[in-house]
Amino acid sequence: MPQQTSTYPQAHAPAFTEAERLAVYRAIHERRDMRHFSGGSVAPEVLLRLLQAAHHAPSVGFMQPWRFIRITQPALRPALHALVEQERIRTAQALGQRQEEFMRLKVQGILEAAELLVVALADGREQHLFGRRTMPQMDLASASCAIQNLWLAARAEGLGMGWVSIFDPLALGQLLGLPAGAEPIALLCLGPVQEFYQQPMLQSERWASRAPLASLVFDDHWNTPSALFSARLKEDANV
Ligand SMILES: Cc1cc2nc3c(=O)[nH]c(=O)nc-3n(C[C@H](O)[C@H](O)[C@H](O)COP(=O)(O)O)c2cc1C
Repeated sequence: MPQQTSTYPQAHAPAFTEAERLAVYRAIHERRDMRHFSGGSVAPEVLLRLLQAAHHAPSVGFMQPWRFIRITQPALRPALHALVEQERIRTAQALGQRQEEFMRLKVQGILEAAELLVVALADGREQHLFGRRTMPQMDLASASCAIQNLWLAARAEGLGMGWVSIFDPLALGQLLGLPAGAEPIALLCLGPVQEFYQQPMLQSERWASRAPLASLVFDDHWNTPSALFSARLKEDANV
């Protein structure tokens, strides 16, 4: 019989060391969406590391739809802040009963954060069909992966980040000279913070709370509770 050769070895790939594994989960669990910043600055080499982390995110068909605009002109900050403020009021009006409660929430740290980055989807995305023919929104999913990478890396660097999406994308696109077809999806406030929130701010402010994981995981069909959460397993996994 001819000897079988395989590109992939049979043995399992090794996991990270215990300390590395714990560090990854720590970044995930201690990442917070931050709205309170303490000014200061982010060293250029750190900012570049964070952008590299973002750029190593997965993307549909490897299209890398993300573009980052670093805001450096001081006059742009108040202009961006004003755009968010306009939309914040419109959102509050649309919320009806929760209008006042919403207006009490801090939803951005644009004027205080050390760095401000706008993330946009590139123009010409319609040329990319791999993985997007039936689900064109996979470009947004890919750019979101990049933002999450940046968010986690920032937490590991001891920097806070807040994703602000309360703005009119057309107005923001005009302000920053985005070409037709490009689309801003995030205003990222990034920088030193005095402390990270212990829990999501929207939870401590009683706007919303984390849903039990067991209510979101199904076996085989929609709404069929997963056996993963049988009492015994739940106890073992401490979930
Ligand atoms: C796509 C996206 C858009 C968001 N936009 C805003 C926003 O405009 N303003 C805000 O205060 N938080 C925004 N957030 C942050 C969420 O409020 C936050 O992730 C959530 O409350 C959970 O808190 P945590 O990130 O600290 O776990 C956004 C988050 C995501 C993923």
